[in-house]
Amino acid sequence: MERRKFIKTCCSTAVGIPILATTLQSCGAIYYATTTKDANRLIVKKSEFWHIKPARRSGGKDKKVNRAFVLVKTESMDFPICLYKMDIDVYSASLLHCTHRGCELNVGGGIYSCPCHGSEFSVTGKVLEGPADRDLKTFKTEIDSENIYILQA
Ligand code: FES
Repeated sequence: MERRKFIKTCCSTAVGIPILATTLQSCGAIYYATTTKDANRLIVKKSEFWHIKPARRSGGKDKKVNRAFVLVKTESMDFPICLYKMDIDVYSASLLHCTHRGCELNVGGGIYSCPCHGSEFSVTGKVLEGPADRDLKTFKTEIDSENIYILQA
């Protein structure tokens, strides 16, 4: 690649990354839920799954839509947990820590994918594609009328 074209490509990429991050945040694709904690549970309000879609994008009035998943992370955690909504009041919680060599997983397209060597996992933490050969660490969940509880013990 000639020098001028290389520099132009690099500058476009460098400019594009913050724009992409802003776009992803604004469309609500990746959302870290407000989380509290008690003795051995992480607590997420069910309302964290709601997202208000502004009128300018929904063509009329503001619209309340549900997120498919939220991420949960506290200061003491090295990797986030993805809390995936499987059905009404049915959630799956998986640690986004690849069992191959420990990279943090991405969420998208209904799977977890590893940016390091390409392993893929289902949203219930099962290996779909190697090189990883062990399922993700998962957590039991409980609910009440307001909250989702991720059991850590
Ligand atoms: S660390 Fe995830 S596939 Fe290697």
